[in-house]
Amino acid sequence: MDYFRRTKIAGIIVEDKVETGREVIILGWVRTVRTSKAVAFIEINDGSCVGNLQAVINNPEDFPILADILTGAAVRVAGKLIDSPAKGQKYELAVEKLDLIGPADQSYPLQKKRHTFEYLREIAHLRPRTNTFGAVNRVRSKIAYAVHKYFQEHGFVYLHTPIITSADAEGAGEVFRVTAFDLAKVPMKDGDIDFDEDFFGTETFLTVSGQLEAEIGALALSDVYTFSPTFRAEESYTSRHASEFWMIEPEMAFCDLQETMDIAVDFLKYIFRFALEECADDMAFFGKWIDKTVQQTLEHVIESDFERITYTEAVKILEKSSQSFEFPVGWGCDLQSEHERYITEKVFKKPVIVYDYPKDIKAFYMRVNDDGKTVGAMDALVPKIGEIIGGSQREERYDVLMQTMKEKGLKTDIYDWYFDLRKYGRVPHSGFGLGFDRTLMYITGMSNIRDVQPFPRVPRWAKF
Ligand code: 4AD
Ligand code: MG
Repeated sequence: MDYFRRTKIAGIIVEDKVETGREVIILGWVRTVRTSKAVAFIEINDGSCVGNLQAVINNPEDFPILADILTGAAVRVAGKLIDSPAKGQKYELAVEKLDLIGPADQSYPLQKKRHTFEYLREIAHLRPRTNTFGAVNRVRSKIAYAVHKYFQEHGFVYLHTPIITSADAEGAGEVFRVTAFDLAKVPMKDGDIDFDEDFFGTETFLTVSGQLEAEIGALALSDVYTFSPTFRAEESYTSRHASEFWMIEPEMAFCDLQETMDIAVDFLKYIFRFALEECADDMAFFGKWIDKTVQQTLEHVIESDFERITYTEAVKILEKSSQSFEFPVGWGCDLQSEHERYITEKVFKKPVIVYDYPKDIKAFYMRVNDDGKTVGAMDALVPKIGEIIGGSQREERYDVLMQTMKEKGLKTDIYDWYFDLRKYGRVPHSGFGLGFDRTLMYITGMSNIRDVQPFPRVPRWAKF
């Protein structure tokens, strides 16, 4: 094949690395073909960028294969790169040789018309070939790289935390089980399922968060981060919830809640700046076709000082507001998406970090404040999405942790290792989790999480 000899289209039309007059080999898929007696045009895309390269044939009668080349086909085109006389494109390819590699017939679902995102979800195996999903996949990849770049440059160690775990890190019970039992004959002992007999000899789940293991890392390596898939069996049918999503979780030793907020803000701004600077071509596409304000929105976040308010202040603001909410507000209630969005979009008109939440509505591992009622938790809220980051200072005091876990009715015996971290060389430590998929929604302007994940997993949907 011509794997090493091919030129990717991005190298020509985005990076401008190829001078005109050069012979190039293009390998890609046909977006459209227009043929007349005098001339034929083939628009080719190879996934390297959103733009197509136009291949031009001035003697169509010498290329009988043209009759078999339809939208969706894979082709090899060799010829000279020339300056295009046509408007709207700089270059085109004067075809010398044209080969059909893999045909596609009229039933190919991605013909010229624009399809709805709902329809494209049904054909998730073909949607990466559309402009939108090509751009989403490329930006997703670049931003994943930016995540690693940021933490590696700041001295963090990338820690691989387990996917299969025996701990429910959030203590919320929204877990998928992992078992090797034959579900028709589950072993029982004294009226309960006998997990001693299961594959791992204990009850196991898909992880909801790598945080507890990240704490192990931080208490040895100082600064660590995880970046991996997480799973939640919550029956949420919103556009912002997925059952499988990627989370980035930095965990820092010798770090308190306010310092964690500083890191979260710096990191988020870095990621957004990276998108604007390093994905400019795809970002221009999103700005034109998906959300006209998407670039401005990111610039606005980069330039904003994030407002920091306590939960108690947030509740006061909501109670005083004239807006009517579906869920009533009062001290002690969990903030709903409508409340979060009101605060960030209407009140402050910029990102807001809400911190010091009531102990009763937050996870067991958060550090209890001196008032005994609130914990050192923080959520970062951004316009249009609401919560994008959730973090906290962790409870490092053995007795307080034990007390809170008992109050929340959690089994303490399986967390013996977690208590050891409080017994031997404990330090104040903190961290946060950034939802990678929600971040991508924000960056691209795509309004449904199912459309920023290559293979979305949501309730009643696990195709492929
Ligand atoms: O607020 P969460 O539940 O926090 C944790 O899991 C902590 N252990 C993080 C930590 O302190 N290390 O989740 C963190 C973020 C949310 O702010 C949100 O962006 C994303 O993960 N998230 C989801 N994204 C998509 N679908 C879901 N079902 C999500 N649940 C949380
Ligand atoms: Mg949260």
